[in-house]
Amino acid sequence: MVIAFCNGKGGAGKTTLSVLLGCALADAGRRVGLVDRDPQRTATRWMQHNQPVGFELAVDGVDYGAVIIDTPPRLESPEVQRSLAEADKVVLVSSPSPADLWTSQDTVQVIRQHHPKQKAALLFNQVQKQTLLARDLDPLAERIGLPALRHSVSRRQSYQHAMLLGWKALDAGAREEILQVALEIITF
Ligand SMILES: Nc1ncnc2c1ncn2[C@@H]1O[C@H](COP(=O)(O)OP(=O)(O)OP(=O)(O)O)[C@@H](O)[C@H]1O
Ligand SMILES: [Mg+2]
Repeated sequence: MVIAFCNGKGGAGKTTLSVLLGCALADAGRRVGLVDRDPQRTATRWMQHNQPVGFELAVDGVDYGAVIIDTPPRLESPEVQRSLAEADKVVLVSSPSPADLWTSQDTVQVIRQHHPKQKAALLFNQVQKQTLLARDLDPLAERIGLPALRHSVSRRQSYQHAMLLGWKALDAGAREEILQVALEIITF
């Protein structure tokens, strides 16, 4: 199963969630490969630095339980186009802030125009659980025309620490949150 994380907007959390969800799937027993299509190579450097168990930079010819593609923020780039074409599932990562969602709509259009049959879902990231926006995520998703995953990812400092220290920087609650999202992505 090939899963691409995308959004034409920079800073949505594509790389953070690519590596954390890969770790979660590896923790759940799958062998996971990462394809880093962003020329900035943040995910590659993260993998080299952290060397997570069961999760590696994807090598041709290996039969992975899941392959994750991290994409750059430029929708028109050949890297994004190629990633969308190869993916079985596309996960559009966006904050629930209306301003961010409007820009995410461009990404939905690209997916729908070029890959009308593609399985795609919206993953809300950086959700602040006590806020009004967090209470009503479904109508926000409806506005941009993609189904939202039931689970979302909250804004936590530990996810930023994890970019430095890896999966072990997460407490049990954060790991559980990421694992729930990972399992939903596998099954939607
Ligand atoms: N759930 C979260 N909680 C807290 N911080 C987060 C969360 N998700 C992402 N961030 C932070 O937001 C910033 C952008 O994240 P990230 O680099 O993953 O985005 P990106 O979509 O890959 O960006 P780019 O388009 O530039 O590649 C980083 O500083 C990251 O630590
Ligand atoms: Mg990135």
